Amino acid sequence: MSRTETSATAMRTAAAGLVTLEMAGRGVRIVGWIHRRRDLGGLVFLDLRDRSGILQASAGPDWSSADAMDAVRGLSVEDVVAVRGVVRPRPDAARNPEMATGDLEIQITELEVLNRARTPAIPVYLPPEEELPSEKLRLRHRVLDLRRHEMQARLALRHRLVLAVRNHFDALGFYEIETPILTKPTPEGARDFLVPSRVHPGEFFALPQSPQIYKQLLMIAGFDRYVQIARCFRDEDMRADRQPEFTQIDVEAAFVQPEDILGWCEGLMEKLAEVAGIEAATPFRRMTYHDAMERFGCDRPDLRYGLEIRDFTTVLGELDSAILRGAVEKGGRIRGLGLEGGARLTRRRIVAVEDAAKAAGAPGLLWAKITENGATGPLGRFFRDDTRTRLGLAPGDLLVAAAGPDRVTSPALDAARAASIAALDLPRTTEHAWLWVTAFPVFEDGGDGTLAANHHPFVQPDPADAHLLDSDPLAVRGLAYDLVYNGTELGSGSIRMHDAALQTRILSMLGLRPEEITAKFGFLLEALRSGAPPHGGIALGVDRLVAQLSGGTSLRDVIAFPKTTTARASFEGAPSPVPAAELAALGISVGGDR
Ligand code: AMO
Repeated sequence: MSRTETSATAMRTAAAGLVTLEMAGRGVRIVGWIHRRRDLGGLVFLDLRDRSGILQASAGPDWSSADAMDAVRGLSVEDVVAVRGVVRPRPDAARNPEMATGDLEIQITELEVLNRARTPAIPVYLPPEEELPSEKLRLRHRVLDLRRHEMQARLALRHRLVLAVRNHFDALGFYEIETPILTKPTPEGARDFLVPSRVHPGEFFALPQSPQIYKQLLMIAGFDRYVQIARCFRDEDMRADRQPEFTQIDVEAAFVQPEDILGWCEGLMEKLAEVAGIEAATPFRRMTYHDAMERFGCDRPDLRYGLEIRDFTTVLGELDSAILRGAVEKGGRIRGLGLEGGARLTRRRIVAVEDAAKAAGAPGLLWAKITENGATGPLGRFFRDDTRTRLGLAPGDLLVAAAGPDRVTSPALDAARAASIAALDLPRTTEHAWLWVTAFPVFEDGGDGTLAANHHPFVQPDPADAHLLDSDPLAVRGLAYDLVYNGTELGSGSIRMHDAALQTRILSMLGLRPEEITAKFGFLLEALRSGAPPHGGIALGVDRLVAQLSGGTSLRDVIAFPKTTTARASFEGAPSPVPAAELAALGISVGGDR
């Protein structure tokens, strides 16, 4: 059946945007919203809109009934109508090559108003030169906002991408299995959303931060390959790339090595990129966490740009500057960026780069403009005769540098790199930079001599580093990998521990007492002791993926009903207070005046 025929219903012959010239001369019934109305006196033109597109319908005394003429004159934008009429080719002069249906129109014979619309609070039809209403208004009036073609196209793309995900994993023998939403806290590092149990007053379920433990249990249960388009909930500080409620493509498989997971994901990305019409040349580039931090100062570098951080400790550490020498004496390094042609930046723009580094936690940046005769600027004045050539810089270049421990200079130089790219408008070497970052550390410094999980506490330490677990745990690398696209982390995964003893050891290294381990993870450990296969997996963020594949828009533009930046649902108005009686039934009392 053609798409035109499948769009037919008991109320319409075809969707508005799918009417074709082949139907010329035929009588049709088309339904839709009034997108625009132009009254030329004798003739009235309507643009009818539905999700498939826009179709012009015309009313005129020669072919429309008197009732239809009257009705057309009383229409307003966003009214819902059904028109009966005949498909006609447009005269050549009236053809519109920009529109899929631009070669035809419907000559209206009858018109029925199916429903009236109040004057829309925000416009659905926007003339090209007009700006979108504020996001606050768009979210408040989301139904109208979602009627816009761009939003419909993004959600259609989301549908097609998720369908391709399911098909890809189905072809590889994965089962989609649902895991609970009312569950126990999952350690993904955020706060839990809690749900009170009425039946067990004073006790709470947690909404899952991810299906992590359940998917491991499914491997132990012998399902071998699992995938789920899973809703996850995290009560964490909002950022542009975070929503409190989001969706993952959650994957786990037994008897695998990282190669298997990476290969399946690359195959998936090739298919998704094809759906989205972008490039994903596999195999993707790989870089260890160590190299990413060293060369880009972050674990998700944006490799659309070649600019790399360099270590200038040897050359700059010799200069007669107390700051530089002091940093090196304390065991720090001097790293920075050599910006070709950067000396053209005004002092104000250089200060903006420095401000970015400061916002990322550095006390400041040092900089030098390289000139024909030497160097200027706060760092340039310390240059010796051979400093410039030893640094490999040319007249016209700008050097920005940060001195200190890597944990301070890495984020600062990452921010300075992004700010320099913007300030100098550096060209991209590619539009689609896919990257695997591998070998993440298992632990991070939790402060006060404690260890924290760098990701979650189930990551398998690399057997090559097993000997460091006691002596230098922060140096232990995990069999863990992240997928990065244009500087955004799209997904994250690892091989897990399948040995209960090692899992228990890691949990106690993370500071959990034996009773806590039993209370929080006893069910997992018991399962691990029942014959757990080696297993591993990954989770890819659907919202981030769709946002990136639709050109880097906001997460809120690819979610039908997202939360605002202040974690509210502004259309439906949540969260909202609950009557005291309902709270009492749950055994909950809330402070303050209610
Ligand atoms: P992680 O916590 O890294 O790993 O999450 C995996 C991916 O989910 C997406 N994501 C989010 N998207 C939108 N809003 C959020 N608040 C948010 N948080 C995460 C990101 C991220 O890369 N269980 C592990 C995976 C595993 O080890 O298999 C996990 O959840 O794209």
